[in-house]
Amino acid sequence: MSGRIPRDFIDDLLVRVDIVDLIDSHTPLKKTGTNHVACCPFHTEKTPSFSVNRNKQFFHCFGCGVSGNAISFLMMLNNLDFVEAVEDLAAFAGVEVPREANSQQAIEKKDDLNNLYLLMDQAADFYVQQLRNSDEGKKAVEYLKARSINGDCANEFLLGYAPNEWKALANSFDHNALIKAGLLVNKDDGQVYDRFRNRIIFPIRDKRGRIIGFGGRVLDDSLPKYLNSPETPLFHKGNEVYGLYELLKKNSKPAQILIVEGYMDVISLSQFGINYAVAALGTATSLAHLNLLFRFSTEIVLCFDGDKAGRNAAWKAMEAVFLSLKDNRSCRIMMLPQNHDPDSLIREEGLSSFTLRVKTAQALSDYFFEQISENLNLSEMEGRAQLVGKAKPYIEKLPEGIFREMMLDRLKAISGIPTLNTPNKTTKPNNLYIEKKTTKISNHSAPAKSASTATALLLQNPRLIHNINQKEFNWDELDIRGIDLFKNLQQVILNKNAINTAVLIEHYRNTADEKSVKTLATLDLYVSENNIDTIFADALNSLLKQGKYATIAKLETKAQNQGLDIQEQQLLIKLLTDK
Ligand code: UTP
Ligand code: MN
Repeated sequence: MSGRIPRDFIDDLLVRVDIVDLIDSHTPLKKTGTNHVACCPFHTEKTPSFSVNRNKQFFHCFGCGVSGNAISFLMMLNNLDFVEAVEDLAAFAGVEVPREANSQQAIEKKDDLNNLYLLMDQAADFYVQQLRNSDEGKKAVEYLKARSINGDCANEFLLGYAPNEWKALANSFDHNALIKAGLLVNKDDGQVYDRFRNRIIFPIRDKRGRIIGFGGRVLDDSLPKYLNSPETPLFHKGNEVYGLYELLKKNSKPAQILIVEGYMDVISLSQFGINYAVAALGTATSLAHLNLLFRFSTEIVLCFDGDKAGRNAAWKAMEAVFLSLKDNRSCRIMMLPQNHDPDSLIREEGLSSFTLRVKTAQALSDYFFEQISENLNLSEMEGRAQLVGKAKPYIEKLPEGIFREMMLDRLKAISGIPTLNTPNKTTKPNNLYIEKKTTKISNHSAPAKSASTATALLLQNPRLIHNINQKEFNWDELDIRGIDLFKNLQQVILNKNAINTAVLIEHYRNTADEKSVKTLATLDLYVSENNIDTIFADALNSLLKQGKYATIAKLETKAQNQGLDIQEQQLLIKLLTDK
């Protein structure tokens, strides 16, 4: 497509634009000393912790931790990708974005695309007019009314009607362009006809509102019930979802996004006030869908019909879901009752019941372990071994991070195999594991997963301190990376009688552990409220076991090198025989 934006241009742009002006035009700033401050546009706060530094041309929020330059600001603020943000920043500066090696071909291609977008607009407009103003359109209006779709909603989603004619569009627009746009079908004999006939039309828009494709539904029971645009230069089904533009217009930072199956589901949910639903376009939810949606929200709820097909679809989506789950992203699974889709259900039970279902949708981890343990007898070793065999390939798909650690911890806890491990994906340090280096010489190279799990849970729920039976642990034997912070945190909670996370974060400000504490305190742990205690107990258990193995290893080495005294011998025997 169009050429690259020259690096020099971007560098110049960042010099030309003053980040203070840019941010000030969106979020009015107040000068304090060398900085300009405001209440952070990226999280809700009463006192300003968002600060912009003119010298560094950099912003930073001490509240939520976001930071970056003018480009990052625009990317975050308006959910733009890099190129889009550069284009907007250039517009702010009043300059054109040059492109490298803009060949004649590239220019023509861009013009072609622009023409296609224009045609899609005109076609959508044509369908809308047919719905509103033609005689034939009346039956489409009746159909929508019968399905209780109101006029506002029809307008918002640009619903239209394709007349029952072979050449309605063909007679109005250029054939070649229509074929490219997927709106005309080209027969072998060179004849052409309109793809969408006698159907309710659902324009599909990309996140910026450009029409890229259409869906069309019959007005009766004939088949196929829905037709969709084919793949075109504008439309790639696997990358797009229905309803995203409409969603973002109402709520650019939704707390969660609900993925449902159908066009009508999105529309009727929206009419009932659920303005955070989108639909995959008749395909399974793909990784591209998830990555797209995670740009706008940190939580995605996947909604499936309660029948067998729905349950199968849910399990099938797991692969993409697992690949998409970086830290700070979470998924929930929402199973509807038998014989319902979101459209029928919200009409039957209303907004608040439906909302409650979304809120209480099953955490992915719970869903996963429930599904994977189905039909396995976990009280037998064989069953537990099968569980490990089934679960491990999935867990290995997870990007490295806290969630992966926790899933593995949980698998260890359920299977009773504490030494279970998955290969590390990368050797480069992951900044989620910035744990204070222990001063002890440790022979463990891998960071203790359960130590960070336990620390994060305790930080976020200081009440868990009461779940730790201090006598049970010989903390000094726990020579594990990350354990020092966990020990220290316990002391702080006990000394300060700290009841909330904020107090703890404050305590660690300007200490070596500040960064780890902040990261762990804000991590989404993918644990539902009623599971916190269990997961914490699992993590402690796993720590205990690691401690035990570490002690055994130490004693065994000592036994071989210099021998053990009587107490040490007794301890070793006890540890080796202890279950
Ligand atoms: P459903 O058959 O569940 O339809 O298909 P629906 O969304 O409940 O529609 P109504 O309520 O009967 O009008 C779900 C989605 O699967 C795709 C469409 O995207 C549809 O919204 N689909 C379905 C097709 O692409 N083609 C079909 O023939 C059927
Ligand atoms: Mn339906």
